[in-house]
Amino acid sequence: MANQPYSPQPDSESEGTSNSLGDGPSYDLIIRNGRLLDLSDTKPGNQCCDTQPELTDIAMGDRRILAIGPNLPGHAKQTIDAQGNLVSPPFVESHIHLDSILTAGEPRWNQSGTLFEGIEIWGDRKQSLSQADVKARALAALKLQASHGVLHVRSHVDVSEPKLIALHALLELQEDVRPWIDLQLVAFPQDGLYGAPQNSDLLEEALKLGTDVVGGIPHYELTREDGVSSIHRLFDLAEKYDRPLDFHCDEIDDPQSRFLEVVAACALRREMGHRTTASHTTAFASYDNGYATKLMGLLRRAQINFIANPLINITLQGRGDSYPKRRGVTRVKELWQAGLNVSLGHDCIQDPWYGLGSGNPLDVAHMAIHVCQMTGQEEISACYAMVTRNGAQTLGIQGQKYGLQIGNLANLVVLNATTLREALSQRGMAIAVISQGHCLAQTSPPQTEWQLPANRTP
Ligand code: FE2
Repeated sequence: MANQPYSPQPDSESEGTSNSLGDGPSYDLIIRNGRLLDLSDTKPGNQCCDTQPELTDIAMGDRRILAIGPNLPGHAKQTIDAQGNLVSPPFVESHIHLDSILTAGEPRWNQSGTLFEGIEIWGDRKQSLSQADVKARALAALKLQASHGVLHVRSHVDVSEPKLIALHALLELQEDVRPWIDLQLVAFPQDGLYGAPQNSDLLEEALKLGTDVVGGIPHYELTREDGVSSIHRLFDLAEKYDRPLDFHCDEIDDPQSRFLEVVAACALRREMGHRTTASHTTAFASYDNGYATKLMGLLRRAQINFIANPLINITLQGRGDSYPKRRGVTRVKELWQAGLNVSLGHDCIQDPWYGLGSGNPLDVAHMAIHVCQMTGQEEISACYAMVTRNGAQTLGIQGQKYGLQIGNLANLVVLNATTLREALSQRGMAIAVISQGHCLAQTSPPQTEWQLPANRTP
């Protein structure tokens, strides 16, 4: 459906409150004429990407949503006219690497395009890390993401570096940005928990410093046995420090890389499924269907979370193939159909592994729709949920911290689109981003002026 071009409205009370109705209650902020997205149920068959929700208003005060309904009476210090566009819960970036972000080409470009050349380049680049360097790049990336409507971020931080420079920088930044964006940090042993003698102690030190999540990379350990051992050790640490887990798991084309079953079994036996996440799991796309079917049964029992990173997976995986060439993205559609919680991450933005990237989660969902062949109406909606509600579930953001209900924290985004199909077709920009009831960012869409030739013979 064609949408009227959005143009920002006067937003201070002194400049005009043409949208206020009568005396009524007083609010800090009202969004009028929005279409609220209900993402409460995105199971197969339950939501259509072409549904256009009814127009409504949403009023906020004291950082929370105070009222929702059409033509709300009252006035506010600030009024934003959504002009019939979607109002969505904020995007959740469930998997990013802020320590290496925006370093593409430093000290050299990744010529092979492989994961392993990327790890080598990052090994050289991190020799010159400083806290100022990390904080400046990470802040720029967070602002880029927030401008697209991202208000929750989980970032992995390499804790294989002996001085933990990046971790100290990001722990400081986490406090700095807390008023406007929620940042979780994962202690990630990029070079392997047992890749160097000090790495295990460094990871535990990171947890003592307050890192939110335990990370791992079992497929990169020196041996299969080291990989299995690392998973058990990391679950022990998660229990000891009461933290969730998020593994880089089987990020490889090798169909014999089967650490996902070990992660799922540990989660099941320790009753930690909902606090455990398997990121990437690209080898799952290379398993034969006999093993994959057996594995799916275990995953249903364990109820762990999954994060796919389609932009990066389609780029890094399959590099050793001729043709047919594997897509290298985990079985997103089948996991979703099985009722498991799947979210999508950007993973990298302009770093040694991926020289591109906008920070817009709609680019990620758009790629997933293509690579995972999720083009059905419910499937498109499901991919949108994977960069919003499902990500919130993975990050443990629950209760009144997420969702467009009265009493919840007033975090939301107004998109330049009236349906999810339109949002994903155009990767519709966030025309207004509201963080804890405060209008954090507004963006005006570009407008095209036509000068079609008239009366000109071809
Ligand atoms: Fe990653």
